[in-house]
Amino acid sequence: MMCRKKDLGRLDVVYDYDRVSERFDRRGLASRNSRDIWRYEELLPVSSGYAVKLGEGGTPLIHAHRLGEKLGMKHLYLKDDTRNPTASFKDRAMAVGSAKAVELKKDDVAIASSGNAAASLAAYSAVAGMKCHAFVPPDASAGKIAQLLLYGASITRCEQVKEGEDATVQAMLAAVDSFGYYPCPSFGPFNPYQVEGPKTIMYELYEQMAWETLDAVLVPTGSGCLLTGIWKGLRDLRELDLIKAFPRIIAVQPAGNQALVKAIQRGTPFEDIIPQPYPASVAGGLLDPYPWDGDSAMTGVSKTHGTGVSVGDRDIIRSVRELAANEGIFAEPSGAVGLAGLEKLLSNDGVGKDERVVILVTGSGLKEPDRVIEMFEERNSGGAGKGTRKRP
Ligand SMILES: Cc1ncc(COP(=O)(O)O)c(C=O)c1O
Repeated sequence: MMCRKKDLGRLDVVYDYDRVSERFDRRGLASRNSRDIWRYEELLPVSSGYAVKLGEGGTPLIHAHRLGEKLGMKHLYLKDDTRNPTASFKDRAMAVGSAKAVELKKDDVAIASSGNAAASLAAYSAVAGMKCHAFVPPDASAGKIAQLLLYGASITRCEQVKEGEDATVQAMLAAVDSFGYYPCPSFGPFNPYQVEGPKTIMYELYEQMAWETLDAVLVPTGSGCLLTGIWKGLRDLRELDLIKAFPRIIAVQPAGNQALVKAIQRGTPFEDIIPQPYPASVAGGLLDPYPWDGDSAMTGVSKTHGTGVSVGDRDIIRSVRELAANEGIFAEPSGAVGLAGLEKLLSNDGVGKDERVVILVTGSGLKEPDRVIEMFEERNSGGAGKGTRKRP
């Protein structure tokens, strides 16, 4: 559902916190049995009765002892969202977006995506009996395309981003206009419901940390939708008086696509952000040339006194290896950038070693095995690897 004015204005879901607080408290939550995102149903915009449940959410929070020791940190945690049903955090969003489509009796859903969100929507659509129309870039990874095929999506491979224009978004909008498909990309201005799903990361996190204070959370960032969800989750918890203070939200983008991070660092208003003409990085999930959810993402960063940090491909690749070698988590590059961001901030005092920090690890390396092999086959030469999307 989009704003009727079609100006890509933001529709927002608001909750009656007084009513929600009647049941949503620490003790009440502890007594709940479900472990998926529907555990937090009062703060989701659709009834779980419409949901296809594949086990989305309820992912582990890992105390990263080995990595922490290397970095001199005692309180470093990893939220392992690779363990979602289709192996990325997008399942939280698409479980909600697809449930809304079921409630609205839609037969066809459309998505523009580098692959993770599309694979996720395709899985939920398959079980719900809806047709998923996926618009993906030409170099979407083999793992993500394989998922789309198996889940029965119709796949349209679009052109590469050119001069900041994202052909996947244009094609999706054209299909929505022409055929009346229900738009369900993980961009807030095109669908305000799905962004409520990733909020549950913060509810889970605080429950898993027994409501202890948290100093900072590092968020892999492309369009800024995930970060918007993190901010909304924090705001909900504060409104309900479940937390007293916000952790700093830290947006992490690849150096080859960092329009949002630059705007955060320079204080540029959202309206003045210019799309990245030719995004390029090994982190293929973070190459949205325009941060569709940048307005709310920037609000979240500023209200929590957070920051933005960009990281180079070499550091991203090193983070993929460090997560696997030290903590047993096999992340795709897009899912691993948080660690690279933390290392950079530790070196310039943006984060203190004694702080309590959570890195979101958002997508599985099994999505991109070919690229991972390429990257690590080349590691001795010190190059960024063939997986990097090159400028034309
Ligand atoms: C693995 C992974 N992490 C993080 C993100 C970033 O999410 P967003 O575009 O909402 O900022 C994506 C987006 O596709 C992704 O695939």
